[in-house]
Amino acid sequence: MTKDTKNPPIDRVDGRMKVTGGARYFADFELPDMAYCVLVGSEIARGTISSLDTKKAQGAPGVLDVFTHQNMPPIPGWDAPVEGQADGPPPKPKTEETYRILSSPKILFDGQPIALVVADTYERATYAASLVKATYAKQVARTDLSKHVAEGVAPGRSGDYSRGKADAHQTAPVTLEANYTIPIEVHNPMELHGILAHWTGPDKLMIYAKTQGVNATQNAMAQAFKLDPKNIHVHTEFMGGGFGMGLRTWPQETAVVAIARKIGRPLKLVMNRSQMFTLVGHRPYTAQTIRMGADQTGKLVSISHAATAETARYEDFTEATVNMTKFMYACPNVSTRYRIVRLDRSVPIWMRGPGEATGAFALESAMDEMAHKLNLDPIEFRLRNYTETDPEHNRPYSSKHLKEAYQKGAEAIGWNNRKPQPGSLREGNWLIGYGMSTGVFNAFRWEASARALLKTDGSLTLQSAVTDIGPGTGTALTMIAHNVLGVPVDKIKVEYGDTSLPKAPSQGGSAIVSAVGSAVFDACTAIKQTLIELAVKEGGPLAGRQADDLAMADGILSVEKEPGKNVTVSELMQANNLTVIDRTKESKAGPDHQKYSMYSFSVHFVQVRVNPLTGVVRVAKAVSVADSGRIVSPKTAASQMIGGVAGGIGMALTEEAVIDHRFGRFVNNNFADYHVAVHADVPAIETIMIDKPDPIINPMGAKGMGEIALIGFAGAVANAVFNATGQRVRDLPITPDKLLRTV
Ligand code: MOS
Repeated sequence: MTKDTKNPPIDRVDGRMKVTGGARYFADFELPDMAYCVLVGSEIARGTISSLDTKKAQGAPGVLDVFTHQNMPPIPGWDAPVEGQADGPPPKPKTEETYRILSSPKILFDGQPIALVVADTYERATYAASLVKATYAKQVARTDLSKHVAEGVAPGRSGDYSRGKADAHQTAPVTLEANYTIPIEVHNPMELHGILAHWTGPDKLMIYAKTQGVNATQNAMAQAFKLDPKNIHVHTEFMGGGFGMGLRTWPQETAVVAIARKIGRPLKLVMNRSQMFTLVGHRPYTAQTIRMGADQTGKLVSISHAATAETARYEDFTEATVNMTKFMYACPNVSTRYRIVRLDRSVPIWMRGPGEATGAFALESAMDEMAHKLNLDPIEFRLRNYTETDPEHNRPYSSKHLKEAYQKGAEAIGWNNRKPQPGSLREGNWLIGYGMSTGVFNAFRWEASARALLKTDGSLTLQSAVTDIGPGTGTALTMIAHNVLGVPVDKIKVEYGDTSLPKAPSQGGSAIVSAVGSAVFDACTAIKQTLIELAVKEGGPLAGRQADDLAMADGILSVEKEPGKNVTVSELMQANNLTVIDRTKESKAGPDHQKYSMYSFSVHFVQVRVNPLTGVVRVAKAVSVADSGRIVSPKTAASQMIGGVAGGIGMALTEEAVIDHRFGRFVNNNFADYHVAVHADVPAIETIMIDKPDPIINPMGAKGMGEIALIGFAGAVANAVFNATGQRVRDLPITPDKLLRTV
């Protein structure tokens, strides 16, 4: 077949639309006769509503109705309770409580919707919502995981893991035991969450949603309203950030759809910022203990990793917090344990680098602590325990170039300048430290489909239902098609984010380039095969040539060894009376995938500056290296890594959703008090791509990158802070008070 064309770094194909306001997000859609709704949240974390006064709200200007547990229209698919989850399948183990929005006076968490006010404008709905008054029979709420770690229960579906000897830790020559915690973190993308529901017929529904998967929302609503999914049209072309919060349909979304049907008007919900902290999930507070043993030569003898995370009483949320420990290093004796504690809190959800970002902070901090005990360079310690095969499953990695990543990152950050003795590097009033950490995440390839249409004018249209939450999916798909068909990038159009297009998985798990990209690759390859067959067939313009001898670029099919011998794609199509070549392909992982462990790897390096008088930590330099297979779109890939670092700085230094446990309520549920890393916190970031194709995962050789951009970063900062100061902070975020406390 033809050779790969070059992989130029192109701008985002939707960039201009986004910066000029042309991109329409769910809340931008305005429909005739549309009504607006606003949620009223509970003021207690546990108990029962005793009285609910909605009269004033009902009488406020513009109010159409107020819905509470007393008059909420039924949601037919919820009649039969689905065990373990608030709003639908898959069934999970039985939980203590069932949460059905506006279905009972029972309160399970602070901020739980107790009323939904519908009015003719957003402002009037907001005002009327302030008039709803409730009284409660309050019960004592448990919201502080740190007080209940010992009460963790094993979730139904993830068992404890062990290999080797259980007591190896006790006999190891050098041992470490340390506890690490991460606080509640929230996604809080710029775009607020919500939904616009429009019943276009008695059984026909149009939804503009903030979802990471239009097909997933379609299915969830089909289940809730007992409809054929074909009758539900979901549109989410653009999303102003998701980070995991859009990976499920939330109860309030379903409620809006039910109420829209009841009032017979399109209904829009846009949640406010403080509701975003409570009603669309968060990264759970997690307490971890690592016990690690090594011998004097720096070989790991044992690792045990236990994690306990909070969840709601009404749903068991779990994530793969301890997974990395099972396979990251060559270590004969490993055990992991994962527990959840059900609290009077709203349910968590996946947040960028779900599980692994939490686990990597503990494991990679512990690796640094152990390296220090052994008097070894942290990279050298990792290399002494490097594994070329997956020790958890005893099978090869599909590809792993982590050694090269360590080396390239170390060079770029200037690792040679690091002093092994903490606190020994100073510039003026600032202590300087270097730290590094590894990140890893599964390289998935899910089933996906895509359609490609090549027209006589040489233009190509790609179609897939996949939504783009921000990483540049349209751009990556454009590059994949460009590399197969040689169509110039400005002649490629991508249509996505709509259930009318070929089915695709939700955008999450760093899987979309691999999944949807493969389907695009296959559809474009099918077009190319058709073109080649037309060209080389008897009587064709390139008759007699082999497919391997042909190259395709800029709309021209040419014979590589015969300069000047070529045919344009439009001539070829016209000669065969074709106005379009239209191919749809479904694509999924092959059976070969079972034989390999597939992961993307990253290494993060940072230089920090710590002011010993104020405890302020600045990340002065950051280098992130990705080993994520072939890079299909260099510019968006670099942006993806940069975004991960910005998130990682927040996770390391500032982000923490604080609960006042007397009330079970967040006290910093706003952007003034919940501190994300802003421009002044983020230094110039260098990204390095190993860019070596994975031979197994998919035809592009591309592995995912979204999660590894963040996973491990907070550990690198903690390790650098230790190197700068000799102070080990094991509880994120590393705020000045924690450093000053230990001086
Ligand atoms: Mo990501 S947490 O898979 O959106």
